[in-house]
Formats: sequence, C-alpha cells, structure tokens
Amino acid sequence: MARVIAVVNQKGGTGKTTTSVNLACALAEKGKFVLLVDLDPQANAGSGLGIEADPKRGTLYNALIEGAAPSNLIYETNVEGSLHVIPAEQDLSGGQIEMVNMEDREFLLKNALLEIRNDYDYIIIDCPPSLDLLTLNALTASDEIIIPVQCEYYALEGLSQLLNTIKLVKENLHPDLKVLGALLTMYYRRIRLSEDVVSEVRNNFPYFVFKTVIPRNIRLAEAPSFGQSVLTLAGWSKGAKAYRKLADEVINTNAK
Ligand SMILES: Nc1ncnc2c1ncn2[C@@H]1O[C@H](COP(=O)(O)OP(=O)(O)OP(=O)(O)O)[C@@H](O)[C@H]1O
Ligand SMILES: [Mg+2]
Repeated sequence: MARVIAVVNQKGGTGKTTTSVNLACALAEKGKFVLLVDLDPQANAGSGLGIEADPKRGTLYNALIEGAAPSNLIYETNVEGSLHVIPAEQDLSGGQIEMVNMEDREFLLKNALLEIRNDYDYIIIDCPPSLDLLTLNALTASDEIIIPVQCEYYALEGLSQLLNTIKLVKENLHPDLKVLGALLTMYYRRIRLSEDVVSEVRNNFPYFVFKTVIPRNIRLAEAPSFGQSVLTLAGWSKGAKAYRKLADEVINTNAK
C-alpha cells in the first residue's frame, strides 16, 4: 500500500511543484514505484516532466468529475526507475465548481486512487496554491503532508490558517492525517535573512522540520523548461543533491 503524500501550501510560489516533481523523481531513482498526481489546474507538474495530456485519454479531471478509471489516465515517464504521472489540465478549475454538488465531494480523489494505491510505494500529490475543494480532496486522500516554506520574510505567515485547516480535516473528515514536516526551500546562503528564517521556522513550527534544506539553485528553476526533473537534467547540481537527501529523509521519517 502506497504512502500518499500531499505537497501543500496555499501561498503561491513556495516550491510545491518543484518539490513534488523532484521528490517523486528522487524516490523513483532509489527504486521506489512512484505516482505523481497533478492536482493543480496550472498543470505545471505534468508539463515539467514533458508530459502532454492526450485529449483521447484525459486527465485527472476525468477521474474526479466523470468517474473515469484512473488506470487509463496514467502516463509513463522516462525517469530511471518507475515514475508515472496523472496530469492535470485547466478544466480542473471549472471542475471544482462541478464538484460542489457531487456526492462525497471531499473524497473524490481518495476514491479515485483506491483502485491504484496498491500499485505504488509512493503517491505524491502536487496541490494548487489555495485552500479550496481541490486541496481538501488532497488532504482527505493523503496519509501525510509536506509543507514547503520559502526562506523569506513572513515565511510563517499564513501557515496557521493551513494548520487550522489540517486540524479541521482531522477532526471532521480524516482522523489519521499526519503532518510529515515543513520543508525549507529557496535557501540563499549569502543572505543573512535566509538563516534567520531557518531558525525562526525551526523554533516556531509546531511539527517536524526536515533537516534537508533546499537551496536556491538555477538548475531547479530551469529544469521544467526542458521537460525534465533536475535529477536527469543536472544530476550533480546542488538542487539534485538536496532532493535526493530529502527523499532519504522521507523514506526514513515516520509522521507523527
Ligand atoms: N530551490 C529553488 N531554486 C530556484 N528556483 C526555484 C526553487 N524552487 C522553486 N523555484 C522556482 O520558483 C518558482 C515557484 O516554484 P514552484 O512552481 O515550485 O512553486 P509552487 O508552490 O508550486 O507555485 P504555485 O503556488 O504557483 O503552484 C518557479 O519558477 C520555480 O522554478
Ligand atoms: Mg505549483
């Protein structure tokens, strides 16, 4: 049975997609069977791996809204090991409105993944920058959550709203949901501020904070334009090394 991990933060641009794609690839590189699910209508996770949704086959939208079998929506990648992707598309944004009146609307993703959960070691879900019905579906479908936090001023701002949502989900929909940890991203060692943010988060975040810190690294930013993860594009780069370390930490960490 897969460990299902959602990468969540309602704040935009904190490194959710970069983390989802590269963590998924790093886990696959270590021999794990991994499925990356793109739950963001921006559809960056799939396109970052060079995947174009085939209109004849469909995307996550078809599974959530139309009940299409998810096994038909799985796209293979050329990542070493085994990495599969269920891509998103812009329609998912309107799909959310259709979801509002559906039965079990908070559990559509969970139900869609049931049939394929056993085929993978890890399922990584890239979430949109919002606390909407799509993200709620990610929270109910997941065992664990990773929260990427950008090393910048006000890094912790907005996190209390996210933690409160997680608390409400635990109380009302999914008691077993766990926070795996916060991940510090875009660390820039030449700036004192980055260090201050790291210690602020380590001292004040109420859950685990990963030892691995993701540096600001140009290779990470440019990899999606090549339709590749940083691991295959620049396997020796600081960004690649950091995501490999993160994968080790994820494999060895039990969420509380
Ligand atoms: N460690 C990093 N070093 C350099 N650039 C990075 C790093 N992480 C992310 N970026 C860049 O920062 C931007 C935002 O990152 P990303 O898309 O991963 O964030 P996101 O949280 O998924 O955004 P959104 O909220 O829009 O979904 C992207 O252009 C990405 O390439
Ligand atoms: Mg994103």
